[in-house]
Amino acid sequence: QDYKEQYRPQYHYTPAKNWMNDPNGLIFHDGIYHLFYQYNPGGTTWGAMSWGHATSSDLAHWEHQPVALQARGFPDNITEMFFSGTAVADVNNTSGFGAGDKAPLVAMYTSYYPQAQTLPSGKSVEVNQQSQSIAYSLDDGFTWTTYDEGNPVLLSPPPEYADQIREFRDPGVFWHAASSKWVSVISLAQLHKLLIYTSDDLKEWELASEFGPENAVGGVWECPSLFPLPVDGDGGVKWVAQVGLNPGGPPGTPGSGTQYFVGDFDGTTFTADPESLQQTNWLDWGPDFYAALSFSGLPDTERVDIAWMNNWKYGGVIPTDPWRSAMSIPRKLSLETIDNTVTLVQSPVLDEEAGFTQHWDSVPAGVTKLNLTGKALDTTLTFTKSESTYFGIIVQATADLSEQTRIGYDFTTEQLFVNRTLSGVADFDGSFPGVYSAPLPSRNGTVTIRVLSDWSSVEVFGGQGEVSITAQIFPSDAAIESFLFSMDGPTSNIELEAREVHSVW
Ligand code: FRU
Repeated sequence: QDYKEQYRPQYHYTPAKNWMNDPNGLIFHDGIYHLFYQYNPGGTTWGAMSWGHATSSDLAHWEHQPVALQARGFPDNITEMFFSGTAVADVNNTSGFGAGDKAPLVAMYTSYYPQAQTLPSGKSVEVNQQSQSIAYSLDDGFTWTTYDEGNPVLLSPPPEYADQIREFRDPGVFWHAASSKWVSVISLAQLHKLLIYTSDDLKEWELASEFGPENAVGGVWECPSLFPLPVDGDGGVKWVAQVGLNPGGPPGTPGSGTQYFVGDFDGTTFTADPESLQQTNWLDWGPDFYAALSFSGLPDTERVDIAWMNNWKYGGVIPTDPWRSAMSIPRKLSLETIDNTVTLVQSPVLDEEAGFTQHWDSVPAGVTKLNLTGKALDTTLTFTKSESTYFGIIVQATADLSEQTRIGYDFTTEQLFVNRTLSGVADFDGSFPGVYSAPLPSRNGTVTIRVLSDWSSVEVFGGQGEVSITAQIFPSDAAIESFLFSMDGPTSNIELEAREVHSVW
């Protein structure tokens, strides 16, 4: 397999074949990054959910691994699917799964039961029930054993939410050193609530608190996670709660989205800062960034997110084959105080190969062809407010501009935008073509935009990374040209830094 099929991402993770959705169980362990993910071993649409697996030593080059947790009874009589969850290193062997001095990795995930049944543990489940289970690995994450004697470890939501038995999912588990406890945050999807549980051994869980509903509640809440980060590099620690929302994503997008809250966590309760509740905080303002999850196993000051670069609205019909869905570029997270608000800032992690820089004192109104071709590019543009109303870059364009993806800045509204209405094949779903915007105040009139384009996506970072817009595109093979555009007048003081990004396959 050469990974050169049409639309095949050259530096974003994709499975060789078949359907993928959420990243799961992200963990850095023993010098290796493990990426597990929702995977259908039997086809290119959602089904038979299992945990696919890939490993990397640098977050750029991935090696496919055998399926880690395969749907029970696959393919003919599936009795349990492995829905989303997370993984931790149980270094103190609190779970007792360790053998000799080998500490276990433990994954906590949602068991989805398509049939009513009595399980090996003696527990009974209803049709379509969602419960939380665990599995462990004694070979550093390569093979896994489900805890059948005890699973599920959380059979159902608390009694007052008993009717939510089919909407109880996606445990985000972590070790809370200050209280010496495991914490798991689990979604009551329909109710827009996060349930926070604590445990000593990853097996017995006790409900500690609830969070939500707050801010965006347009769809269901899924894939929650909670993690600490220092503010402004060395300031006090704040906690970030990330929550997927489907549908009901950012304004103008058709389906899934991811929001975050900044606040405090004391081992039992997450309390969002009042400023964080004044408006929804979108992790990404585009249509294709969902179920974001960070790695466990890195120092607490280092957070790296990966998200599913697709959208439930049209994810099953995007024109790729024999795989469907890619992961976002890994993004290093930090908390920075910007305009008096503690803001999540993202910085993409990828090899920075040699490129070139170019300067223009002024670019005239209209389009200016760049001496820059290719479909996998990393470009950074800095420019200053002058007479134009819009300025930006066009990527993956045909020479006649009949196909193009426009990424720019609107000086009148101070917004970053991505326009994929002419980006190529877009007719597989009526909601796919669109323009997506994110607020981005200029700094003394100066704006910086970084664009990562790949064979079927653009990820755009504004400012220092305080906003991003991620969108899939499906351009034709001829769409390799790049242009600058300046509307209603010239734009001055332009700095372009550009490099081609090489295939990681
Ligand atoms: C989110 C999600 C999760 C669930 C998984 C099933 O995309 O719906 O809530 O665990 O996908 O594949």
